[in-house]
Amino acid sequence: MKHTLALMGGKPTRKKPFTSWPIFNKSEEKSLLRTLRSGKWGRLQGDEVSKFEQRFAAAHGCKHGIAVVNGTVSLRIGLLAAGIKAEDEVIVPPYTFLSTASAVVESNAVPVFADIDPHTFNLDPKTVEAAITPRTKAIIPVHFAGQPADMTALMALAKKHNLFVIEDAAHAHGAIQGGKSAGSIGNLGSFSFQSSKNMTAGEGGIITTNDDALAESCRSIQSCGRVQGGLWYEHHVISGNYRLGEFQGALLSCQLARLEDQTNRRDRNGQYLAAELIKIPGIIPQKRSIDCTRHSYHLFMMRIDPQQFGVSRSTLIKALQAEEIPCSAGYGFSLPQQPLFQNKAFGPYLHKASAKLNFRKVRCPQSDLLCHEQCVWLEHSMFLGKRADMDDISEAFQKIYAHRETLNAHVLSSPLTQGPV
Ligand SMILES: Cc1ncc(COP(=O)(O)O)c(C=O)c1O
Repeated sequence: MKHTLALMGGKPTRKKPFTSWPIFNKSEEKSLLRTLRSGKWGRLQGDEVSKFEQRFAAAHGCKHGIAVVNGTVSLRIGLLAAGIKAEDEVIVPPYTFLSTASAVVESNAVPVFADIDPHTFNLDPKTVEAAITPRTKAIIPVHFAGQPADMTALMALAKKHNLFVIEDAAHAHGAIQGGKSAGSIGNLGSFSFQSSKNMTAGEGGIITTNDDALAESCRSIQSCGRVQGGLWYEHHVISGNYRLGEFQGALLSCQLARLEDQTNRRDRNGQYLAAELIKIPGIIPQKRSIDCTRHSYHLFMMRIDPQQFGVSRSTLIKALQAEEIPCSAGYGFSLPQQPLFQNKAFGPYLHKASAKLNFRKVRCPQSDLLCHEQCVWLEHSMFLGKRADMDDISEAFQKIYAHRETLNAHVLSSPLTQGPV
């Protein structure tokens, strides 16, 4: 029997903190100072954002990058550029952050939830196909946790039904599927640089594409509907000021310079940990798709089968946290169960088509199972360290499994922690 559980008075498995986030060094300091001293703080004056756009797009196999204020606005701009209109339907997964679906509502369109695959935790192409109606105009696959969704099947469906595809790659900087970078496979890609993401400037986002006309349209929407060669006070389409600032552009170029090395490290450590954890009864790491060339491991996701493992998820999480292994249960419920959808609190976006909907009747059992009982998340920065860090994580799981019976006898009362988005 391994040492006493930390939750029961023993010493924690992990003796020092994991790698913290964000990571920065002198290059960020120099770039920020250079931008400060230049006096060119907006993208209209400087060239930090435009240089970053080119670098990020090239690193993701795309011709164009359009930087914006965050990864919610990038989805909204994408939907506008796609020509999504009132009452059009857009298929989204239920296991994702709010923005994937709220961007659809804010485009005056209707989000239609299709359930996820129980093994990869990404959109299941079969449920997507079943959700297609004559009103369906687009799909937003999310590369959840950093593993690309099944883009081969989804792009085939899109072709067959003439649908627009926006990849929500908010978790997938540097992820690759079948040799193609996330963000370069659909019509448009959308990334976030919010604080928790694998590349960050505190906030920020970018749209990627290989389509010249779409790029021009996104670029116009990003900056008040202006067009190239037009007058300054000449506005062609409904939009606003969604431009990213130069300080963020400067920071992001420094972050991008580390992305390749960091993504390889996360992927290496993530694969190693998955191979270790799968040996423990009742622990089922996210399945790696055959065509996943590189997983960006924004999150390391797994299911716990409480019957097989011998304790509930909430007990496992409390015990892991006591062992100094940071973790969380992630989302508490699937998106259709959010009060926003249950009550259709869509404000000015409630129109005839959405008024007729009843999100209380939407069923996404696979997503619900993850949310309510099974999913555990570990964050990406834990995967930036050494293999020995992975061994500590796996040892903590083994220790908890070995003590499952005594642990179960404990009354564990504190509530589940919510993870970052
Ligand atoms: C899957 C997903 N899509 C979109 C977003 C929105 O990005 P942002 O926070 O930059 O608006 C997030 C999270 O932050 C996300 O997790």
